Amino acid sequence: MPTVQEIQRASAAGEPLTMLTAYEAPTAGIVDAAGVDVILVGDSMGNAVLGYDSTLPVTVEEVASHTGAVARATEEALVVADMPFLSYGTSERDGIENAGRLVKEAGANAVKLESGPHTIDLTERLVELGVPVMAHLGLTPQRRNQMGYTRQGTTEAAAEEILDLARRHEAAGAFSLVLEHVPDDLAAEVTDTLDIPVIGIGAGPDTDGQVLVVTDVIGLSESAPPFAEQFGDVREEMEEAVAAYRRAVEDGTFPGESG
Ligand code: KIV
Repeated sequence: MPTVQEIQRASAAGEPLTMLTAYEAPTAGIVDAAGVDVILVGDSMGNAVLGYDSTLPVTVEEVASHTGAVARATEEALVVADMPFLSYGTSERDGIENAGRLVKEAGANAVKLESGPHTIDLTERLVELGVPVMAHLGLTPQRRNQMGYTRQGTTEAAAEEILDLARRHEAAGAFSLVLEHVPDDLAAEVTDTLDIPVIGIGAGPDTDGQVLVVTDVIGLSESAPPFAEQFGDVREEMEEAVAAYRRAVEDGTFPGESG
């Protein structure tokens, strides 16, 4: 498992960083063996695997349980656990305790916070205590009741605010930044401005790395955001396998004689 400094050094040497989500052991093992640099146990688990229609209901217990499964199956990648909605920002103590659970009990190497003016001090405090923090700006789905799922940073003022917050989170000690669903030129400017790696999703080709939700990548999601890319069709494979099993039981070809 690399340290966050090793991730930063690899990025500074020009290696494009790869990050994918995973929520359970078999997928984490596959993602890890494929050489992906960072596995994010995202609160996107809410939509991706827990059957919620947003990330808002996801709890610290759920993220901790899924992070434990991912951490146990991961040998090489850095495991980052997402702090769920309202598990931070309410008080410094709650933020530290919840981040601490994800690192101490679940085995995460770092935490990610959907960032804003309210996460600068917490980022600094967590880093001071030894918890590496990945910041997240642009579209932050935990604010869906305020911003929806629309592209962010599209006005000059909004772009300036994202750039300013990115600088302030870097100064607070964040080891990297996720930038979601912002114009390509803003993502390029933030990437040029910061020394820490910027990992984009729906932010164009000019960031230091890319992240996607694994169920979108493998073709298991029922629906995916416009900036997601599908690289396989696991849903079709599963449908065929399950239908073949049902047919085999019904027509008596499974099981065969047991010897
Ligand atoms: O929860 C998540 O999976 C995320 C990524 C989309 C960056 O925050």
